[in-house]
Amino acid sequence: MNDLGPKKKTYKNILLMYSGGLDTSTILKWLQENYNADVYTFTADLGQEFADPTRFKEIEEKAKKLGAKKHFTVDLKDIFFKEYIVPTIKANGLYQGIYPLSTAVGRPLIAIEAVKIAKNENIEALAHGCTGKGNDQIRINTTANAYAPEIEVLQPLIEWNMGRDEEIKYAEQHGIQIQNQNKKYSTDENLFGRSAECDILEHPEIEPPEDSKAWTVAPEKAPNTAEYITINFEEGIPVGLNGEMMNGVELIRQLHEIGCKHGIGRIEHMEDRAIGLKSRETYEVPAALILIKAHKDLEKYVCTKHENSFKQLVDQRWTELAYEGLWVDPLREALEAFINEINMKVTGSVKVKLFKGSANVVARESPYGIYDLNLATYDTDSSFNQKLSYGFIPLWGLQSRMGFITKRKLKQEKKK
Ligand code: ARG
Repeated sequence: MNDLGPKKKTYKNILLMYSGGLDTSTILKWLQENYNADVYTFTADLGQEFADPTRFKEIEEKAKKLGAKKHFTVDLKDIFFKEYIVPTIKANGLYQGIYPLSTAVGRPLIAIEAVKIAKNENIEALAHGCTGKGNDQIRINTTANAYAPEIEVLQPLIEWNMGRDEEIKYAEQHGIQIQNQNKKYSTDENLFGRSAECDILEHPEIEPPEDSKAWTVAPEKAPNTAEYITINFEEGIPVGLNGEMMNGVELIRQLHEIGCKHGIGRIEHMEDRAIGLKSRETYEVPAALILIKAHKDLEKYVCTKHENSFKQLVDQRWTELAYEGLWVDPLREALEAFINEINMKVTGSVKVKLFKGSANVVARESPYGIYDLNLATYDTDSSFNQKLSYGFIPLWGLQSRMGFITKRKLKQEKKK
């Protein structure tokens, strides 16, 4: 192995971030054989199994059966909401204007928790099942290396030089059940969304087939009547649904259900990965999309046009850092200082209309809205003095008009 690979040939013990799928199950065996190590496994509960929490028990049993020394399942749903989802909502975090960062913001949290466990248990190295082509490896490694430079992060999928077929053969030889192998897509799920890649989805000229979706109903099959919902925000944080205050995880759960029923949040995207590859990505992000749309609308309502224009730049920069795996960069916190300051007044409620795959804001209310009916109305009794326009427009347009005239002269001279 050259300088760029793992530093050691054996490890006493390794903590594997384990999902229970084929890759990480094969890795679990491979690490024991290849590094002669005790392998510990860790599964983060970010809400991915919210339909079926008993799944975590099955994952644990599978890990133990494959020789895991000890298994950790950690419920991170609340912290995921408060420290990762809320900042994404406050930053209107849509990568390239489209993808609400659902996988992206889960990764640093998983890495930080893995480091915590490794330190508590005196574990020498971490391992995960990310390929060398994606964003997730950057997100996990950068975060873990920042929190614990002394702990190495192993990437067996890069290291083991096995193709997919060899991997499956290896798995079979080691008694790993491959019952899910008709599951052709590589998926990732958490409270904030589901992503699917691979197989036919790698052909951008073909529409993603229905079997790549697992959460949402097809918009064509969604109810024929619209549903209206109201989301309450306090300082940029979603705190209530249809007037009922509730905790964030519960709010997302309920919104998820309503959104799925109406076919909201199906996204397909030609995405620019941090590593430079362009890739076709598909998502189901009903709750995330509704929340970001609603938040953005309310924020725009309570901010000046100058704040709105600058906020877009800050949001985009924040989103890129989160997407590109640089969660630990101090710039993120610095941008959040501004984002939080803006969000102090993002309090109020937003009414959203859901209908056959679309979620549109149709009304909003806030004590801090910079809107004055009396000024804006077209009725004649408005206190807005339209005569001021006689003075305003000549000054507003002064320099632009002068510039226009000068440039026209220049063009005419060139023609001669
Ligand atoms: N392209 C998305 C992102 O970078 C999704 C990655 C999904 N990961 C996966 N293992 N399927 O955030």
